[in-house]
Amino acid sequence: MRDTILAVVIGLNILCGVLTFFIPEMGNFILLTISTIFTLLALFDAFVQKKHSLMRAFPIVARLRWVFEEEREKIQQYFIEDDLNGTPINREKRSIVYQRSKKEIETIPFGTQHDVYAKGYEFVKHSLFPTDHHHIEGERILIGSDKCSQKYNASIINISAMSFGSLSKNAIMALNQGAKLGDFAHNTGEGGISPYHLQGGDLIFQVGTGYFGAGETKNGKRVFNDEIFRNNAIRPEVKMIEIKFSQGAKPGHGGILPAKKNTEEIAKIRAVKPYTRVDSPPSHSSFSNFTEMIEFIQKVRELSNGKPVGVKLCVGNTDEIEAMIKEFSDSNNYPDFIAVDGGEGGTGSAPLEFTNYIGTPLIEGLVFINKTLKKYGLKDQIKIMASGKAVDAFDVVKYLALGADVIGMARSFMLSLGCIQARECNLDTCPVGVATQDDDLVEALVVKYKNERVQNYHQKTVSAVKEMVAAMGKDSISKLEAQNVFRRDKSDKISPLDEIYYN
Ligand SMILES: Cc1cc2nc3c(=O)[nH]c(=O)nc-3n(C[C@H](O)[C@H](O)[C@H](O)COP(=O)(O)O)c2cc1C
Repeated sequence: MRDTILAVVIGLNILCGVLTFFIPEMGNFILLTISTIFTLLALFDAFVQKKHSLMRAFPIVARLRWVFEEEREKIQQYFIEDDLNGTPINREKRSIVYQRSKKEIETIPFGTQHDVYAKGYEFVKHSLFPTDHHHIEGERILIGSDKCSQKYNASIINISAMSFGSLSKNAIMALNQGAKLGDFAHNTGEGGISPYHLQGGDLIFQVGTGYFGAGETKNGKRVFNDEIFRNNAIRPEVKMIEIKFSQGAKPGHGGILPAKKNTEEIAKIRAVKPYTRVDSPPSHSSFSNFTEMIEFIQKVRELSNGKPVGVKLCVGNTDEIEAMIKEFSDSNNYPDFIAVDGGEGGTGSAPLEFTNYIGTPLIEGLVFINKTLKKYGLKDQIKIMASGKAVDAFDVVKYLALGADVIGMARSFMLSLGCIQARECNLDTCPVGVATQDDDLVEALVVKYKNERVQNYHQKTVSAVKEMVAAMGKDSISKLEAQNVFRRDKSDKISPLDEIYYN
């Protein structure tokens, strides 16, 4: 094959040479130049470069493979995938976010594309006596245990943690302004509070193991610093604090900020060296057992003047988590909320094995946390925030029915900003300016339009939740129960989720 390709390329080059010799016109000179470049490239591929066997065997032609490989995701999305099979978030779900964000038509014609007889098909049962969706209650939830003096009245849907660094400044500004317009909360992510977070929207200040905005580097180790934390935590925008243990996309692995995205500005905010990869440690340096952890939660609560403090985790070893909750009960001190993230959760950057094979999926994790809090009599004190691919109102209804009090969404809000699921968040090449620090790409995201989309998506999704709840004949979102959601199993039996998960 190599000889044939070389013969064709060189033959064409000679032909162009002869043509130019007899008819010395501009067009022919251009042809000759192009064919000469191709010939030189073919010779380089075949004989000079030694790294790529495919290029040595198929000079020039093999280069197409790299082009297609580069563009694979986009080709897949635009030409191959159907509405239900794109991953991680399928086209149907992505489209509903775009439609709700832009306030475009959000109805679909001609019936469902879902196979309603397939194993795993889920639905809720409606009532013969639907209620009025304009008067559905329960869209706000008061978060704060009896240990907390500044309870927060949260929306049932909030923006889950994503840092400035992982996302661009324009994305963070649009999210925060959207949160302000729609009166819901925006989680800072573990990168700390940047000026872009301070647009007036409510903040959940996340404290990760790197203690960015909450600590300093001492003897090469990131440690918590009371004063640095306090200065940020007492800001009026900060409504709650979230201590991060793990996230579903990489449990047991600290955060990763790729070197390319660690610009001078981000490095300054995090107090690290610019343009180096910043890995947060996998565990906290402030405590190493449950007793110390509870003391830390209490200290953080006091330093923030009594704001609600939560812990974020993806469920791993259930014995450990049960021991933690038992300790909360025994010591009569506890966090105000637990944010449970599913193994299916998103990330800007994670090792493949951690993303694919570590961490309990959200439903099992959520059910476990809910059951265990109830077992130790703490469900009234500790609220549950659930995150893991919640996109449309059915996802929200299902997770609330299974025991969540509020829902966190990360990628759905990225989609509302115009994310096209290019899956380049770790490369700094995000084509829509959401997950990049490249100035030209960031400019493409215009904050004053995208903030409204964030608000619209939130508002329309909450409305859709209310419409579903009304169709089910209920008058409050808080009355959703696991027995209201049904699933078809492989033997064709339809069971309510309480039978599957709470028996
Ligand atoms: C770009 C990106 C950055 C993230 N950064 C953080 C972070 O800093 N801290 C954290 O706890 N989780 C982080 N997450 C995880 C989300 O907060 C969330 O838990 C997870 O993606 C599940 O929600 P989703 O399925 O709605 O995306 C990040 C997710 C994404 C997509």
